[in-house]
Amino acid sequence: MKIAMVGSGYVGLVSGACFADFGHDVVCIDKDPAKIDKLLDGIMPIYEPGLEALVESNVNAGRLSFTTDLAEGIKDASAIFIAVGTPSRRGDGHADLSFVYAVAREVGQSLSNDAVIVTKSTVPVGTGDEVERIIGDSCTSHRFSVVSNPEFLREGAAIGDFKRPDRIVIGAEDEFGREVMSEVYRPLFLNESPILFTGRRTSELIKYAANAFLATKITFINEMADLCERVGADVQDVSRGIGMDNRIGSKFLHAGPGYGGSCFPKDTLALLKTAEDYDSPTRIVEAVVKVNDSRKRAMGRKVLDALGGMEAARGKKVALLGLTFKPNTDDMRDSPAIAIAQALTDAGVIVSAFDPEGMEQARPLMPDVTMCDSSYDAVEGADAIAIVTEWDAFRALDLGRVKELVRHPVLVDLRNIYKPEDVRAVGFTYESIGRS
Ligand code: UDX
Repeated sequence: MKIAMVGSGYVGLVSGACFADFGHDVVCIDKDPAKIDKLLDGIMPIYEPGLEALVESNVNAGRLSFTTDLAEGIKDASAIFIAVGTPSRRGDGHADLSFVYAVAREVGQSLSNDAVIVTKSTVPVGTGDEVERIIGDSCTSHRFSVVSNPEFLREGAAIGDFKRPDRIVIGAEDEFGREVMSEVYRPLFLNESPILFTGRRTSELIKYAANAFLATKITFINEMADLCERVGADVQDVSRGIGMDNRIGSKFLHAGPGYGGSCFPKDTLALLKTAEDYDSPTRIVEAVVKVNDSRKRAMGRKVLDALGGMEAARGKKVALLGLTFKPNTDDMRDSPAIAIAQALTDAGVIVSAFDPEGMEQARPLMPDVTMCDSSYDAVEGADAIAIVTEWDAFRALDLGRVKELVRHPVLVDLRNIYKPEDVRAVGFTYESIGRS
């Protein structure tokens, strides 16, 4: 089966490479010639474990190709995926659908065979209806169906998530859509991955509801962590204790500096806008967004407290270990590190940093921060170290060596990757999240 993937960003590229790996004939399309040139040269535009090898083997097998030519790329494709960005619109937080609709228009004008058009981008409820209308405006001679098929890929684990999904959600309004999508995902049916067929609007909402629920879970445990600090309880054990209840589940209960990334912040905001538009407010999600926003800067204050407070902190040096919004990615979007670095530099603190993959992306976002070549370089002369992202590289630091390098042995572990007693045994003052 031939599949066209319009948009070769994170979602499009991972999905396209995985579909090719299933044995489909896949063309990834992007309007950015520089990106396509790079891909043709085997250079990945993003960092994602396993992606380069997957792309290379499928290109070599003749199942995966790249082009900037949409009309040529979608020719003979039975399924045309739209996987372009839906960023937050400046000013109002609505999802910006201009890229999705532009692709829909071009697909409508270029369609030369029967096809199913699939929105993979995260799109607000009702977008599929509009895509259908746009394509129908210019395409009258071929049968087409518009289907919603949201992705649930985690950055850093995207290939595994694609190949062994918890579920596949397909929102289709007719048999043609369901049939073609069954063929697209046949290898996963055989894998016994659960597939949920729903209506198109329901499928669109499932994606937002899933992300908002996960964001809520994280925010809930983060507030519990604050309470743990006040009452002398341990949030790690609270997470374990509640997570063992199957109704709650143990995942996404890791307290930290607040969620970031390309999805949760943008999708929770977009859900609020949809809820507002339909006069059905989602107050829990409203609170989650507010609490998470203020948490990031509050983490900066936590580091300032470890330096002895605002006044004492001026002129002191802090080393940030980890900048990306989570490990195994170079993605800095909405990373808590940005607000933390800002809070510190605002208070006159000198900030140095190291991140295994994210420094290039981080540099323009935090121009006052000195980027270093290693963790050990970053901590030299520091009055406090803050672990912001739980990269494996920071789990086994030689704390003895670190202690020799710093001016004051103070470690603020915003991801709880160390045991308090281990760090204190080396002679550090140790602060973490929701533990004393
Ligand atoms: C998320 C969803 O998991 C995925 O299904 C969706 O398709 C896209 O958005 P991603 O943004 O890659 O994926 O990151 P994820 O691993 O979910 O983490 C999101 C944020 O929450 C990170 O900042 C992470 O550090 C934070 N987080 C996650 C916590 O603070 N605690 C947790 O227990 C889990």
